[in-house]
Amino acid sequence: MHVIILGSAAGGGVPQWNCRCPNCIDARHDARGRTQSSVAVSADGERWVLLNASPDLRMQLAAHHQLWPRSLRGSPIASVVLTDAEIDHTLGLLLLRESTARLPVYAPGGVTALLGNEWPLYRVLSSYAGVEPRTLAEGRPVALTDGAGDPLGICCSATAVARRPPRYARAAPTQAFDVGLRLTDEHTGGTLAYIPTAGALDDAVRRVVEGADLLLFDGTFWSDDELAAAGGGADAPTARQMGHLPVGGPGGSLELLPRLDAKRVVLVHINNTNPILCRSSVERARVEGAGIVVGEDAMEFEL
Ligand code: MLT
Ligand code: MN
Ligand code: ZN
Repeated sequence: MHVIILGSAAGGGVPQWNCRCPNCIDARHDARGRTQSSVAVSADGERWVLLNASPDLRMQLAAHHQLWPRSLRGSPIASVVLTDAEIDHTLGLLLLRESTARLPVYAPGGVTALLGNEWPLYRVLSSYAGVEPRTLAEGRPVALTDGAGDPLGICCSATAVARRPPRYARAAPTQAFDVGLRLTDEHTGGTLAYIPTAGALDDAVRRVVEGADLLLFDGTFWSDDELAAAGGGADAPTARQMGHLPVGGPGGSLELLPRLDAKRVVLVHINNTNPILCRSSVERARVEGAGIVVGEDAMEFEL
């Protein structure tokens, strides 16, 4: 399975338009910005599956020749899988509206419901090419297919992870909004565990990760109070209130990730305030010292 990290940043990207934190200042000056969270995977190198649809999708598709059209009109994007209904993981669907055919979008049932109502992307898109919502049932693996129903050679199973509903849907009924994905190449057996958002490193996460060749895990924040400390205001939510397990501190993911059964661990969905983005920081050294990689845009893997 071919894996490309299209975007390694959390919502807002790096630099974030209204932020003057040290990481955002650096990114403005050294042109090493990061786009918002998304990954592309493919078994055959021809047809690709987007894992989440980033607000930066247009730039991301332009940056990778594997994702360029092969004919006068068309796209190697065969389907999309959503892990949640957050704006940074779904807004990119609007950017695919010029499609000539309905786009298959796999998502947990709770996410599909939100995108039909509270954040009515599917309703808006129905006046354009439209999407074909496909449900990812908890713990039931599906063989991903393209719009014509042809198999893509990748099996996908979704497991609900500890989180909370998106901010725009606080009143929504409690359901599985966020999932971790386990994607297996049906030919090579290569397995990717993709968990860009998780409030805990618990048994659900362990089930997704078990024996994976690569784990892409939630690296949003280093510390619980990071947003408030970076000028987000005294009312800024903590990492844990947002449903992101911090990387650092007691009980943080840095203590727990090396004990998981994954061959490689790469952090993704990294917020612009996170000190691990600074190559000379002590936090970065601690992550790398634990054998964990800080994800970057355009990193590629073969599983
Ligand atoms: C998250 O990952 O917690 C959300 O994307 C935050 C946001 O609303 O940007
Ligand atoms: Mn996010
Ligand atoms: Zn910043």
